Amino acid sequence: MSEQTVFNQTRAHLMEVAEDQTSNASNNPTFGDIINKRLDRRHALKGVFAVAALSSTTSILGSVLGASDAIAIGAKASFNFKEISHGVDEKHHVAEGYNADILMRWGDALFKDSPAFDPTGQNRASQEKQFGYNNDFIGFIPLKDQADHGLLCVNHEYTNEELMFPGLGRQDRTMFANTTKEIVDVEMAAHGGTVVEVRKSDGKWIPVISSKYNRRITATTEMMLSGPAAGSNLVKTSADPNGTKVFGTFNNCAGGITPWGTYLMAEENFNGYFWNKEAAQSHQNADMLKRYGIPGQWYNWGAHYDRFDIAKEPNEVHRFGWIVEVDPMDPTSIPKKRTALGRFKHEGAETIVNKDGRVAVYSGDDERGDYLYKFVTRDKLDRNNRQSNMDLLDEGTLYVARFNADASLDWLPLTFGNGPLIAANGFENQAEVLIFARKASDFLGATKMDRPEDVQPNAKTGKVYVCLTNNKHRGSKHPVDAANPREKNPFGHIVEITPADNDHASLTATWDILVQGGNPAKPEHGAVFNKATSKNGWFGSPDNAAVDGLGRLWIATDQGKNWPKTGTADGIWALETEGERRGTGKMFFRVPIGAEMCGPCFNPDDTAFFLAVQHPASDGAKAFPGFDRNSTFEDPATRWPDFNPNLPPRPSVVVVTKKDSGIIGS
Ligand code: FEO
Ligand code: CA
Ligand code: CA
Ligand code: CA
Repeated sequence: MSEQTVFNQTRAHLMEVAEDQTSNASNNPTFGDIINKRLDRRHALKGVFAVAALSSTTSILGSVLGASDAIAIGAKASFNFKEISHGVDEKHHVAEGYNADILMRWGDALFKDSPAFDPTGQNRASQEKQFGYNNDFIGFIPLKDQADHGLLCVNHEYTNEELMFPGLGRQDRTMFANTTKEIVDVEMAAHGGTVVEVRKSDGKWIPVISSKYNRRITATTEMMLSGPAAGSNLVKTSADPNGTKVFGTFNNCAGGITPWGTYLMAEENFNGYFWNKEAAQSHQNADMLKRYGIPGQWYNWGAHYDRFDIAKEPNEVHRFGWIVEVDPMDPTSIPKKRTALGRFKHEGAETIVNKDGRVAVYSGDDERGDYLYKFVTRDKLDRNNRQSNMDLLDEGTLYVARFNADASLDWLPLTFGNGPLIAANGFENQAEVLIFARKASDFLGATKMDRPEDVQPNAKTGKVYVCLTNNKHRGSKHPVDAANPREKNPFGHIVEITPADNDHASLTATWDILVQGGNPAKPEHGAVFNKATSKNGWFGSPDNAAVDGLGRLWIATDQGKNWPKTGTADGIWALETEGERRGTGKMFFRVPIGAEMCGPCFNPDDTAFFLAVQHPASDGAKAFPGFDRNSTFEDPATRWPDFNPNLPPRPSVVVVTKKDSGIIGS
């Protein structure tokens, strides 16, 4: 990217562009190639009945070919709420009959001695005691088995200095001339995660500020490297000659809650925090730094802290890009980076207990042309002994997905010695296979995907939903055909995986496309939804997903700068997955201008739906009618959620409840 290009991007867009710029130069097939091959095969089978016979379920691809055009209308919906409308404005919107209350805002107190939020005078000490910036993943861990009382675990993915600090503007445009060490310290303290006790009191959800569980995790929190890559020569630094102790986590996008009640934080675009292009080019693993997009130079951290300068600390880059496990029940516990789950740009880490008692963790590598992974533990979950599960994620097998044209899928083990994963190809041991998981997957022939975001298993059905957010280069680098007609794929799609024999440890599965994003009324979008979908029920760029206690799927979107193409802000859509209405969307919630929808999370009885509104006023604000400029602290496109002229916009967690206290979507 040229510097001029950088000048014109919002921070979120810069990240999206990075995810879009494939670093995957392998000859592995793309997912588009496979969809095309599969549809070609279906076309070859003559007629609707042949198509229907190919799949035991009602396939959305079947409906493309005319198999199920009319049958959906009238079938019973599993969601019951009055849909909201597409649109864009300064506020959030929720379906009629629901409350959407602000629960936690950037800068809100977490401790009795937290300083009051002062947007003109933030410092490291104050920010470390306050809710962080850009809330993303949300997890809920009940306390004493109560549905209306628990711990909220929230990731803080990144910071927008132009919206956080007065008089600064976007600093990478000026080579960080005004980003002082004090500002960097606030940024580092605003990253990471929060654990906060929440409860329902007099019908309203509130944070419990005096809770002993409340905790901030930041870019400087002490952590351990754990599992096969701990102690490897590739993770040793001058501050940590044993390669086992790391400071901090950052760019924590989505994550997961394990069946034993720990909090998984996914490290996504870690490359953006490192400095020094010359040093990267002469690094002993220069090809791998390039494969991971290092250095991004999006922040000024390297100017003030040597470990972010590749010349001064060449191995620090290998200590990020992992899944971090936190025990929220013990606020003094040391988080562990679970290296057995591989190193890549983890979007999230969602778990499911397999029928044999082992645990599978699904995770996407969010970059155009990168891969889908799962990890299966060696040992079984013990539901009667929490402590015995605490290191389950250190032993097991990591797999990468190969999607085949016949609708089957193979999980390929990233195990040292397996096929090409040998010394002749640059892998000396299992640690190197995991540290360079992208390279190992290139050698195994994994399928290049259109930016895998959240990968959400459904414990009720055993199916797994893969959100693929977009791929604007499809068509230029990978030719389209009649069966996959979008010249570009700005609107993404959702793939459904059905494990063989409902076994998440199986080496095989089958797959299908649930929906293709975009407006079905515009043929040029190439969108595919069930015909029962209303004019507000379609969406673009699926990103995060949640499954409620009834096994119903809810999708959060992140269109980035593409929202003018759909004409609507991001939000939450309910999405049917079963029966005749399979592939029917319904709009439930909408974010304010410039925000992205993250973190959908239900409490255990589905009466509360926690949503994360990330970077309000940022994405695409220039296209907002009547605004048409980049947002800054002084002049943002919205001052959501406070609408106070003295306060900037603030990323916040919203809690949605039904006015009659019933189940969400009932
Ligand atoms: Fe942090 Fe893939 O979005
Ligand atoms: Ca996101
Ligand atoms: Ca999820
Ligand atoms: Ca995204």
